[in-house]
Amino acid sequence: MLVVRLARSARVRGPAPDPWIRRRDVARWTGPVVYGALARVEAADGKPVGYGLADPDAPIAVRLISTGPAAPSDDWLERRVAAAVARRARLGLGTDRTNVTGYREINGEGDGLPGLFVDRYGDDRVIAVRTAPMAALLPRIRAALANARPAAIAWLQRAGTAETVPVADDLPAAPPASLAWREGDLHLVVPRAAMQKTGGYLDQRENRRFVARLVGPGARMLDVGTHAGGFAVAAARAGAFVVATDASTAALDAARENARRNEVRHRVEFVRADMFTPMDDPRLAGPFDGIVADPPKMAAAGGRVRHVVAALASLARTLTDRLVPGGVLVLCSCSRNLTETHLDEAVARTGHPFHRIALLGPAPCHPTAPMHAGGTYLRVGVYQRGGDAADFPIT
Ligand SMILES: C[S@@+](CC[C@H](N)C(=O)[O-])C[C@H]1O[C@@H](n2cnc3c(N)ncnc32)[C@H](O)[C@@H]1O
Repeated sequence: MLVVRLARSARVRGPAPDPWIRRRDVARWTGPVVYGALARVEAADGKPVGYGLADPDAPIAVRLISTGPAAPSDDWLERRVAAAVARRARLGLGTDRTNVTGYREINGEGDGLPGLFVDRYGDDRVIAVRTAPMAALLPRIRAALANARPAAIAWLQRAGTAETVPVADDLPAAPPASLAWREGDLHLVVPRAAMQKTGGYLDQRENRRFVARLVGPGARMLDVGTHAGGFAVAAARAGAFVVATDASTAALDAARENARRNEVRHRVEFVRADMFTPMDDPRLAGPFDGIVADPPKMAAAGGRVRHVVAALASLARTLTDRLVPGGVLVLCSCSRNLTETHLDEAVARTGHPFHRIALLGPAPCHPTAPMHAGGTYLRVGVYQRGGDAADFPIT
């Protein structure tokens, strides 16, 4: 068995340490690296830390799957896959109770399965592996998933070091022509040309409902970065009039189709626009009662955090001018290093008074391991524009 001895400087302690061990925190590797086999991790003084999956060529060199001296059972993977799937069923996902058929079945470290992400779109399943050890475990993962909850079709998406190793599996690497799912009474479909991430943004599911309720019937809403139209169509179904924008023509086509399917085509207008420009198309001028800004992931590593906050602040400024006093700005960030404080700062830099009324995250099918700093990515700040009461009389 591979034994990983940590450097003295490594801060891997406590009952639930962050499962990521970086390459710089490893002092010595002893024994063969067999992708997918468990490695024993020891502190600098030889005390047991736990067991993990080693990926020595990656910046995150070990991902812990257990802590303490006891080795996990041989069937740890099968048990965790089954438990992750069962937890979603317990939440009513994939059942008639919620009528939600698009959801995340496995969320990496949050389910004790680091580097493995599985999304369910109706009968389709996307298995995304991002590390070499998880790629090596693919045949076992597939069998465990099939046992836990069969899917009609599955396809494999590889990223990171998972792309560098051969995979003993015959899963198709190309997505199907389209993926379709339900979020309660909302039907969404994404054709291959418009797919992003594993297809669509399942993490925003509950936020779409929240925002639709918040803006309410008769409101005018702007949805910036609409992708397949999730926020726009949910709000239109709640009675809002929406202008939806995206830089991608394929995304706008998908959003248009989703508006049609959900019988709100007459309530949503589509405009192609780059959100990082002044957005001076007159159809985007407003005024709006609600604005959702959901920009793409912006690498916010190290010194780039300031740069990303500046881009968000500029976006918030562009949008605030078209938001009525009392209106709601929903500012999203899926950049890992950006916190709610950065979102607050972006909003503060508009120079307008705002009140944060909610802070949202990904849907509950995206659990996070409690001490895993790198596991939190989606942050959604919901801000109400302030001003004098006379600016927004009670009607
Ligand atoms: C995080 S996704 C939005 C997800 C969507 N709001 C949902 O709930 O499904 C970001 C979207 O921004 C779009 N996008 C990327 N760069 C853009 C830009 N410069 N201007 C406008 N849209 C952009 C992408 O095509 C993508 O649809």
